Amino acid sequence: MLVVDQGGLVVAANAAARGTVGGVRPDDVLPIHGTRRVGFLRYLKRCASTDAIVPGTLFLEADDGTVERRRCHGARTRFDAFGGRVLTLLHLDGPMLDRRFAILSAKLEAARGVMQERRLRSRRMQSLLEERGRLLVRLKEDAAARVAAERERDQVLTRLYRAGQDERRRLARDLHDHAGQHLVAMTFGLRRLTPHLAAPGALAELDLLLRQAQDIGQALRRVSLELRPAALDEFGFVTALRYLAKEWSRLTGIATEFQMVGQDVPLSTELAVTLYRLSQEALTNVAKHAGQPSAVSVVLLFGVSHLTLTVDDDGVGFDADAASALALVAEGKLGLIGMRERMSLVGGSLELESMPGHGTTVMARVHLRGDVSSDG
Ligand SMILES: Nc1ncnc2c1ncn2[C@@H]1O[C@H](COP(=O)(O)OP(=O)(O)O)[C@@H](O)[C@H]1O
Ligand SMILES: [Mg+2]
Repeated sequence: MLVVDQGGLVVAANAAARGTVGGVRPDDVLPIHGTRRVGFLRYLKRCASTDAIVPGTLFLEADDGTVERRRCHGARTRFDAFGGRVLTLLHLDGPMLDRRFAILSAKLEAARGVMQERRLRSRRMQSLLEERGRLLVRLKEDAAARVAAERERDQVLTRLYRAGQDERRRLARDLHDHAGQHLVAMTFGLRRLTPHLAAPGALAELDLLLRQAQDIGQALRRVSLELRPAALDEFGFVTALRYLAKEWSRLTGIATEFQMVGQDVPLSTELAVTLYRLSQEALTNVAKHAGQPSAVSVVLLFGVSHLTLTVDDDGVGFDADAASALALVAEGKLGLIGMRERMSLVGGSLELESMPGHGTTVMARVHLRGDVSSDG
């Protein structure tokens, strides 16, 4: 309880009033918080202008800046002891309000604590989520890097494999085209010498040379077998041959038909390699010599007892009957002779049909009975 004049000067204050924020004492100006001062003076004027009790609010400010909000009731009063001036008797509703406020603020404080805890937890959750996101990104990057590395390794392996295959093919071709065919030519030459050798011991010497040539030929065949086309190993004979025809057609642009008739049986490695190389040579000849054939066909016929491979073109053809082995060897043309030699080595035969203007047919024939695949 306190009494103030119209300017807020404290005229009297009881113990309760003195215990409020700011320590209100008589002769003090009521320590109303600066921004609220105008409103407070207006409130005092209102109290002075009526007989009613006017409810209001005080914002008391302590020296340290703390502001205490107090509900109050004001009533006009006059005391003779204070010169009969119009004064206002202010009753502070404080303690009740304070208690309620204390309970409320305790609840608020608790709520604030919970909120803070929640905020903290959600912040922790957020940072966990971010961490997980970063980990996921890193995992994805790692996985992508691994996939790229694997792809690169595969490419390198493929390149190495292809390089190896190319090398084998080149070696096999060199052996066949150069060493093998020249050996054939040499054998022919040696045989041609036979009638002219009269001196004693010369025939025996020639025999020795021929046997040596034969041994070299066998050694070459073994190496050539080991260098057999990779396609044969990978796909088996029929598929490899089909692939060869398709590739050849793609490279030359000549329509090529591959046909297999009958039920295929496993062939020995030597027979498969022989027929495969023969097809390569026959197709090479078509590309080299047949002019502009409109169609080429490769037919593989598995009969009851025989296998026949035919390579046929409708190109310019040539006089096959006139082309004697000796003449061909003399001209260094060793493809057809090589085919025939190779077929006889596997117990087969080669037929050649060709006339100028009527295309060319190369037909290889071999007995099938007892021919068992030697390499699975
Ligand atoms: N499909 C073909 N069409 C036309 N002529 C061919 C065909 N195949 C072979 N010839 C003829 O037979 C010859 C001998 O062939 P070949 O022994 O393979 O020797 P090269 O191919 O080295 O000439 C060839 O030069 C060519 O005149
Ligand atoms: Mg040839």
